[in-house]
Amino acid sequence: MSFFLDTAGLFEQNCIISTKSNPLGSIAKMFLYREIISTEGRVSESLGFYVPNKSRPNRQLNFDFTDKVRNGNGFRDPAFSENKIQPLHRWVPWIAGFSAQFVQDCFETFLKDRKKKSRPCVLDPFAGVGTTIVQAVLNGFNSIGFEINPYAALACKAKLNSPKLDLEILETYLQEYRRVATKGQRSVVALRPAQFETRIPFFSLSVEEQALAFLDFAESIRHEEIADLFRVAFGSVMVSFSNYTYEPSLSSRPGAGKPLIEKADVHSTILAKLAEMVSDIRWIKERLVNTPCQAKGQVHNLDFLKSSNVLPPSSVDLMVTSPPYMNNYHYVRNTRPQLFWLSLVSSRKDLRKLEEANFGKYWQTVRDSEPLDLNFDHPELSRTLARLRHTREDKGPYGGPGWANYVTSYFNDCHRFCKVSKRGLARGGVGVVVIGNSIIQGHEMKTDLILADIARQSGLTLVGVQKIRTKRVGASITASAVRRGDISKATLYESAVILRKK
Ligand SMILES: C[S@@+](CC[C@H](N)C(=O)[O-])C[C@H]1O[C@@H](n2cnc3c(N)ncnc32)[C@H](O)[C@@H]1O
Repeated sequence: MSFFLDTAGLFEQNCIISTKSNPLGSIAKMFLYREIISTEGRVSESLGFYVPNKSRPNRQLNFDFTDKVRNGNGFRDPAFSENKIQPLHRWVPWIAGFSAQFVQDCFETFLKDRKKKSRPCVLDPFAGVGTTIVQAVLNGFNSIGFEINPYAALACKAKLNSPKLDLEILETYLQEYRRVATKGQRSVVALRPAQFETRIPFFSLSVEEQALAFLDFAESIRHEEIADLFRVAFGSVMVSFSNYTYEPSLSSRPGAGKPLIEKADVHSTILAKLAEMVSDIRWIKERLVNTPCQAKGQVHNLDFLKSSNVLPPSSVDLMVTSPPYMNNYHYVRNTRPQLFWLSLVSSRKDLRKLEEANFGKYWQTVRDSEPLDLNFDHPELSRTLARLRHTREDKGPYGGPGWANYVTSYFNDCHRFCKVSKRGLARGGVGVVVIGNSIIQGHEMKTDLILADIARQSGLTLVGVQKIRTKRVGASITASAVRRGDISKATLYESAVILRKK
């Protein structure tokens, strides 16, 4: 048995509890350690607790907290910002990722006993730029990732390929590129992507010339894995010398109160990024030099919800992932520069296909459709959706009706996600899903608890729901002008929903 604690008046943080009959009891003990810091030792108390989708009984529970934890809740800060200083993880910034340390904590908690047995398999269905799968390989675990965005998948693939790159060949290409950079010439082969439309010119003319010279050079690289590395370096820094900026959504610099960029040393910026990447490649090669049989990491540029012919059933020991949050952060629009300039898409039609296949869709994609229905039973969510649908009804797609469609399609995808994950998990396999709550048109959506309910309905066991960050960075666009009444007290947080396949 495992329970989700109702925090009201008891603890600052939600926490997982379990009885001794819980086979994952040690995990649960670990999460509660924070509470014994304040109570110094074993605790036996009468507590109110909440069992998802059930009543709220009061019951006498005995807790036994002994394991060591970090930061009081078992996990280090999951925010991606930490990755900015970690080898490999620092190659490409990616919004709403989590940190390598968080992933490491998951491995130490859930795979500790597996290391000596056969090589465990780690899955990340929403791999982003590869935090989970790269970290898995560094730990000697096999890993498999799915990532629908071709740019993020490219970054992930480049990291996974990095240990086998030939540094001498790479150095030869770097020297050639330095020559191109010094001469400032180009052969005029690459062209500005025709269907990449922006309100103001994306690059100034002099910057664009250099960007095209880079692309000419990248095109001439005959070693695919090295070409990928150069392309990832360009993708990682290209917005920094453009007239656009991440705030965190892509906006024009003037719109964000910043000056246009007329001149920039594009080649030096790319070379600096490449130098950082080469140093990380040396690091990983040294780290893996004495590993006779390296773990296998793979990423598929595919929709995880349609992964059944790629992911073998019952093959995954641990899933650590973070799906897109229900905040309508538009991964596709925000990576348009990289997608177009790296020829990963060529038309608006390509973008549209990506938008429709993205987990949860986007508000822009579903707001005008007929009212959508939930594909599963959840009376409480249905009631919230009905209230949301009637909020600012007169605004149509821009008010409750449009946003209710978005929330519905989001949870329908959560339902599909639970089913596909359950199929992939091995018996006893654990899934850690990091997810944030949302405030939509003034209605708080406890996405973590609803996902936990959906997972249970799909036949997975809920180990617990652990709140890991109480203040999320970055504004939720859905929390905008319509906060009012009690909801103004609601804050954005992130939780780890921990699941297990029986
Ligand atoms: C929160 S991010 C994950 C970031 C990742 N944890 C990291 O550290 O880089 C969610 C990712 O899910 C991807 N995604 C969205 N829909 C998907 C789908 N249907 N299948 C696979 N990936 C998807 C997005 O492109 C995005 O990169």
